[in-house]
Amino acid sequence: MPVSFDSDQRIFKLDTAGSSYVFQIYDEGYLVHLYYGAKIPDINLSLHKYKGWFCSPAPVNINIDDPDFSPDVNTFEFPGEGTGDFRESAIAIGNADGNNSTDFRYVSHRIYDGKPALKGLPSLHISDDSQAQTLEVLTCDKVTGIQAVLYYTVFEEFSAMTRSVKVINPSGNEVEIERIMSACVDFNTRDFDLITLYGKWGKERSVNRSPITHTRQSVSSKRGSSSHHQNPFAAIVDRDAGEEHGNAYGFNFVYSGNFLFSADPDPYGGARVIMGINPEGFGWRLKPGEEFTAPEVVMVYSGDGIGAMSRTFHRLYSKHLIRGAWADVKRPLLINNWEATGMDFTGDKLVTFAERAKELGIDMLVMDDGWFGRRDDDKSSLGDWFVNEEKLGGPLNDFIKRINDLGIKFGIWFEPEMVSRDSDLYRLHPDWCIHVPGREKSIARYQYVLDYSRKEVRDYIYSLMYGILSENNIAYVKWDFNRNLSEVGSAALPAENQREVFHRYVLGVYEIMDRLTSDFPGLLLENCSSGGGRFDPGMLYYSPQIWTSDNTDPIERLSIQFGTSLCYPASTMGAHVSASKRAGYETKGNVALWGTFGYELDPNKFTDEDREIVKHQVGEYHKYYDIIHKGDLYRLISPHENHWRAAWMFVSPDKSEALLTCVVMRKPEDRSFYLKLRGLDSGKYYVDDESGEVYSGALLMNAGLCLNRFGMEDGDSFKIYLRAL
Ligand code: GLA
Repeated sequence: MPVSFDSDQRIFKLDTAGSSYVFQIYDEGYLVHLYYGAKIPDINLSLHKYKGWFCSPAPVNINIDDPDFSPDVNTFEFPGEGTGDFRESAIAIGNADGNNSTDFRYVSHRIYDGKPALKGLPSLHISDDSQAQTLEVLTCDKVTGIQAVLYYTVFEEFSAMTRSVKVINPSGNEVEIERIMSACVDFNTRDFDLITLYGKWGKERSVNRSPITHTRQSVSSKRGSSSHHQNPFAAIVDRDAGEEHGNAYGFNFVYSGNFLFSADPDPYGGARVIMGINPEGFGWRLKPGEEFTAPEVVMVYSGDGIGAMSRTFHRLYSKHLIRGAWADVKRPLLINNWEATGMDFTGDKLVTFAERAKELGIDMLVMDDGWFGRRDDDKSSLGDWFVNEEKLGGPLNDFIKRINDLGIKFGIWFEPEMVSRDSDLYRLHPDWCIHVPGREKSIARYQYVLDYSRKEVRDYIYSLMYGILSENNIAYVKWDFNRNLSEVGSAALPAENQREVFHRYVLGVYEIMDRLTSDFPGLLLENCSSGGGRFDPGMLYYSPQIWTSDNTDPIERLSIQFGTSLCYPASTMGAHVSASKRAGYETKGNVALWGTFGYELDPNKFTDEDREIVKHQVGEYHKYYDIIHKGDLYRLISPHENHWRAAWMFVSPDKSEALLTCVVMRKPEDRSFYLKLRGLDSGKYYVDDESGEVYSGALLMNAGLCLNRFGMEDGDSFKIYLRAL
């Protein structure tokens, strides 16, 4: 049983293949956290409860006869606000009396096979109740009568669990949730480093690592989306943890809006980690009888380093997050016209793209921005989802038929959450965008954000999308989102509900994505947000792939893809070969292979030599697809740590094949460089077909391969494919 309860000690134990998570119902119903880490057999962990001297100002509960216990210093599962615990709280509720003291204590619990879905929210899913087990703990604030149900679901096979919370108001008073964290873990040490993923447009998800010392460190977004700037992922790792060794705890929030992750050191040597909806700009009114469900946090533990943590996330997400017809199916190799043409294209021009695509073995043409309204630049027409037949040379159906007749599938771009200032929709419904009456509306890329908290707005946009998708043979949609939310308010909500708009907006987006994926189950959806500005597990629940970055320079992409891979599998990372200048097609292809793979250029401009390279790449895409998309990733040399080279490898699950890729970022100064491979079977022999050399797995992993290649220049790269004999 992954979840057990020892009724003598009143201890819950959540075991996975590699981890244990333990907490106790202490006196007066306090839920005291005891342990999270490598799997342990013990049940009696009550002694593990924090003991020690603390100073007299620390508040104590007068009903508890234990000199070692204080809300100020003990470790808790779901700490409230203003009742003796001065660290960051997991929950704060503005009560009917105007006070926000909040204190939830244990009432009851139940343990069952399976995992409940979260209403209106994306979450990890199971296909069979035997795949997960859930502990539900009902808690109550006895002064206000408000209840909170804590959900813990254990994915035993994966050393992973999820946490979320539902707040219920059975009282007769309306209250306001001011703050709600989906997960809180009180570690009894702060001897950790914190790893987060920071960035900006064109430079998403770089890796930041810093020690947790005496200062609170947090990452967050208040942009209305998870953002380019900080990803809703963080890991707490041993100070000396590396790819292959050390404890690593990964946290990832299944949510696409404002989030907060914080590591809050306490004065006694511990650290509290919390993750949830960003409380800044958030409030949620709860009338009598209503409930509120917070999104879930995925927690992964690895005792074998950061690499194993990532591989667990990859496997877990491939099986329990990514859904639908495309979850396990090979994705089409596509060509997108954006970088080649911008909005300056015609139907005829795109047909030439499809003709070249056919010659090269590419499966699909994606028509990007500019096919609707009067959209010849980014100043107009978002919201006016009517086909520009003049540009396409006739109805969309006829145009798609020309593409399909070549044997090429067709995909299309939408930006459904936006409205251009210069659009018929905005002229007709100026109050349909997010705004605060009387305040200037900031514009970004000449557009406003539609108020997706309003059903009529969502329904209108969806009806236009539905029309286009149901009347035409469209196999793929790129769903874009190109600005952040500012002056956040809704014309449809009363004053007291305005702080709900951020969250209602995200729920509205999820509702439309849900309708889209249900109405068109065979459609391949790719999310995008000015590149990778909304690369999060919430989006991955609806779209199995996300455009990783608008930056397609292969050298820049290395750090973006390395960072992204800390949490997200290769099959989710949109990666294309473009006409960027810094490296040749071989390196661009080698880097894009670590993703969904495709092209983002004008294929009419290829030289004969380019065409041969591309045909070869298309062959490699097919040859290596399974190793990369179903195999295990080993990051060998990170561009975040090494100036000269980056290297990574994929190993098939049965360890019978491996693909090593190495990119020279700057011509290295060393004359000989040996790289130890990872993840192979030390008892097997592997052949490198290209050179004919045979090596044992043991040799490759212990002595390594000499990676120096004569004549390698900046931007060059190579791959080595190894096959077990
Ligand atoms: C965003 C996307 C690009 C492209 C343009 C179109 O910037 O990231 O890939 O689709 O929008 O306007």
